[in-house]
Amino acid sequence: MCSIIGYCSKGLAAAPIIVKGLKRMEYRGYDSVGVATESNNQIELKKATGKVDEVNLKVQLDSLPGKIGIGHTRWATHGKVTDINAHPHQSNSGKIAIVHNGIIENFEELKKQLENEGYSFKSETDSEVIANLLQKNYESTRDVKETIMKTVAEIKGHYTFVAMFENGQLAAARFHEPLIVGIGKDDYFLSSDVLGFIERTDEAIYVKNRNFVLMNSSGIQIFDFEGNETKSHIVKVSKEFADAYKGDYAHFTLKEISEQPTTIIKAGKKNSDEIAKAIDLIKHAKTLYITGSGTSYNAAVIAKYLFAKHAKIKAEIILASEFPFSPISIDQNSVVIAISQSGETADILESVDLAKKSNAKIISIVNNLMSSLVRRSSCVIGLNCGPEIGVAATKSFTAQLAIIYKITEELCDGCIGIDLKKVSDLISKLISNKSKIQLIAKELKEVTDIYVLGRGIHYPIASEAALKLKELTYIHAEGIPGGELKHGPLALMDSNVYVLIINPNDSTYDDTLTSAREIRARGAKIIGISNKSSDVYDHWIEIPTIDETMYPLIEIIPIQLLAYYAALEKDTDPDYPRNLAKSVTVK
Ligand code: AGP
Repeated sequence: MCSIIGYCSKGLAAAPIIVKGLKRMEYRGYDSVGVATESNNQIELKKATGKVDEVNLKVQLDSLPGKIGIGHTRWATHGKVTDINAHPHQSNSGKIAIVHNGIIENFEELKKQLENEGYSFKSETDSEVIANLLQKNYESTRDVKETIMKTVAEIKGHYTFVAMFENGQLAAARFHEPLIVGIGKDDYFLSSDVLGFIERTDEAIYVKNRNFVLMNSSGIQIFDFEGNETKSHIVKVSKEFADAYKGDYAHFTLKEISEQPTTIIKAGKKNSDEIAKAIDLIKHAKTLYITGSGTSYNAAVIAKYLFAKHAKIKAEIILASEFPFSPISIDQNSVVIAISQSGETADILESVDLAKKSNAKIISIVNNLMSSLVRRSSCVIGLNCGPEIGVAATKSFTAQLAIIYKITEELCDGCIGIDLKKVSDLISKLISNKSKIQLIAKELKEVTDIYVLGRGIHYPIASEAALKLKELTYIHAEGIPGGELKHGPLALMDSNVYVLIINPNDSTYDDTLTSAREIRARGAKIIGISNKSSDVYDHWIEIPTIDETMYPLIEIIPIQLLAYYAALEKDTDPDYPRNLAKSVTVK
């Protein structure tokens, strides 16, 4: 996933505004950055590997001249992380520059054709073919609209690109990747995310799929891929996007962990009608599936557990990336619950499309209410937790869980008796008592392997804990269902290993403590996460006592903090872990 931006204004310098927009969208991809601007009918370009601030310091992206420009932050898919592979890419004539997000599936074929016609390529990217194809089509049509129509008819894949022509004309085409127009007082934006322009305007047009935009300083026009002008509505974007600032926090990740006492209360709050609709759909479903990726999949596992235990409703959980390969029977009586923070994860969109082909109904539990997933869903429940910028999901996970608890509570006529206010207070206490966690984090600095053990409902939390630890610290981490220890993982236990035991004093307690003793006997160090102390723990992270069902919401908090502080010890960047992107819009 990458971020792209296009900007044109009547009076302001484009480059500094583009750099600011890229900085706010950096979560989408952060291995290289570039900006190109137009001035006096000439395109100038600067790009390099690194994060926005680093590259700007190195090459002064923001000093490029002109009032029109494009910019990009990259998450490499085709070709290594190098200066040459960074965007923008220029066509051979230098008269067109492009930035691209997505994948051009037929780039090899197009590249060969263009090479046969005399075009040459500098980068290993699929994106550079767009620049040369645009040049070829522009030379034959001398018309930007015709050029875009011809080009989108030739490229296959999922993409949004913004092209800048040497006369300052901008054009952007959208096919299954996001594109939003920002309308300012005296300027216009093209952007992957509202965050690209929220500092300057809250008026936006969400460009429809298979549409393209022509933009210059006097206005915009939007067309479908057949060239018919399309009507688009200007919407006011929620000011909450402006919250995407770190404030006094050192990192977004810490800010987002700290927001959880509030976000679990707000989860799904604006959506009581949609929750009622979801409950009706779930109750009447002949078959119920729950899908998600990464953290959102871990939330799905908890949903399966809660629905079965408390509402006697059976659901099948499927990793979104496995959905197309799973032998499942879906029809018009099936319901698929799709869980996703971004609503843009390619695997989840593909799963939902497959389910919709069989006329299944889709309930989405999603944070980004303008996402592609929302447009595919019959019922949408918003996480309502505000923008999550840290690549590792934290507050979105607990917001997903809070909604799942609310749904379960309705499905079982109030049998759990959930009290989210109480949970919120307990989370606040856990967050304020972090000194012990910070000390333990210091010990993890040299550790190479961490295992996380949990039984029953604590197993998906063990998986989520391992995911957070590996993302933030790059330490090898694995979640293990407690009882499986003796079926293999015990062979890995020795004095170099740390094991986190998720062990609240509930029905899983005794068995999990036995596993902890077996591990201790092999010399591994044990960190117990429990409301009850034990001599088996080398370190005890105390959590408060609560009803057994509610522990998942509590026990993940100290682990998020541990992963965050261990990342600081290891000097990794907790907000932007290497090789990752916030939402994975490629397969
Ligand atoms: C979580 O920390 C990860 N960054 C990742 O596993 C994420 O949960 C996954 O890619 C799914 O994203 P989504 O919720 O936006 O669909």
